[in-house]
Amino acid sequence: MKHTIITEPNPLLRKISAPVPVGKISTPEFQKLLDDMTETMYIADGVGLAAPQIGLSERIIIVETGDHKPAAYINPEIIKTSFRTTMSEEGCLSVPGIYGVVKRHRGVTAKALDRTGKEVTIKTGGLFAIILQHEIDHLNGILFIDKAEKIHSVAERANPKI
Ligand code: CO
Repeated sequence: MKHTIITEPNPLLRKISAPVPVGKISTPEFQKLLDDMTETMYIADGVGLAAPQIGLSERIIIVETGDHKPAAYINPEIIKTSFRTTMSEEGCLSVPGIYGVVKRHRGVTAKALDRTGKEVTIKTGGLFAIILQHEIDHLNGILFIDKAEKIHSVAERANPKI
């Protein structure tokens, strides 16, 4: 089932999301939520989606890890960042039509629970590292437009929306 993606200035995008109790992860309802979020992301042509974007204040993100391989991360936390930064041009499904250049860490190490409830460590760079930083910001009520150094509006762009 596809969810509706809420957009700025909906106040639900600004809430700090609550951690998911570990015991909830294996329930059929929660597993279905992860599938529905993944479907919602792909239908919207995005490469990342955080639960607040469907109005749910829980620490859940879906990310495209490359080659149409989605991953769900629960209670994700960045535990280490590279000193080197990169200027990333970003858009967001919740901020339609707006793009901006955001300074991000080039690489990050994050820990999270996967969809089976197992603790995983993700050490990554490139687009995947950018997506993780963007989606974890959503869990803290932060949008890329808050951090962008340059913001522009473009009607049509081929850039991935995270
Ligand atoms: Co976004």
